[in-house]
Amino acid sequence: MIQGKWFAPGENLSDGVLPVRLAVFGISGDPVDQAGWNALVFADGEPAATGRIWWEDGVYWLGSIGVVSPLRGRRLGDLTLRLLLYKAQTHAAREIRLICPEDTEGFFSRLGFRVIRRDHGQSEMMVPGSEVSLDSCASCNKQDCPNRK
Ligand SMILES: CC(C)(COP(=O)(O)OP(=O)(O)OC[C@H]1O[C@@H](n2cnc3c(N)ncnc32)[C@H](O)[C@@H]1OP(=O)(O)O)[C@@H](O)C(=O)NCCC(=O)NCCS
Repeated sequence: MIQGKWFAPGENLSDGVLPVRLAVFGISGDPVDQAGWNALVFADGEPAATGRIWWEDGVYWLGSIGVVSPLRGRRLGDLTLRLLLYKAQTHAAREIRLICPEDTEGFFSRLGFRVIRRDHGQSEMMVPGSEVSLDSCASCNKQDCPNRK
């Protein structure tokens, strides 16, 4: 079973968010956690993916979006990104940005992000809040889906 959980700014992250972040990025907690919301996705009760959103200088930023390596390719990253974008929508975000490795641009561009800067293998990407679409049916052409009926 897949489950998601939110952690409010300043909440204790040591039971799930930080171990996943450490496993994926080799980094632990930092001052951004005092200001940001963290999402944690569980797969069969085990912490599997995480990501965070915070507000800075008029922009909502997403970051530390990662899935533990044995569970990649099972749409847990997609779910985490959608949770973060949904949170941005609930805050009426005008603009959402993130910095990611260049080779993950495609993962983010699927949900509307576009590259605004590239530097040493890292890409800054942005999507206006008005262009965020979490409707996964919109781009699907499966004709026999019960959701179409
Ligand atoms: C990038 C990452 C979060 C993707 O998570 P994941 O759970 O493996 O990806 P998903 O299974 O949810 O993939 C969803 C879709 O994105 C695509 N995708 C996944 N990784 C991709 C990549 N690096 N580049 C392009 N597309 C990618 C998948 O093919 C899939 O496409 P589909 O909708 O056509 O089927 C994961 O690989 C990861 O943790 N990487 C290391 C940390 C990192 O670089 N984070 C990003 C910057 S903070």
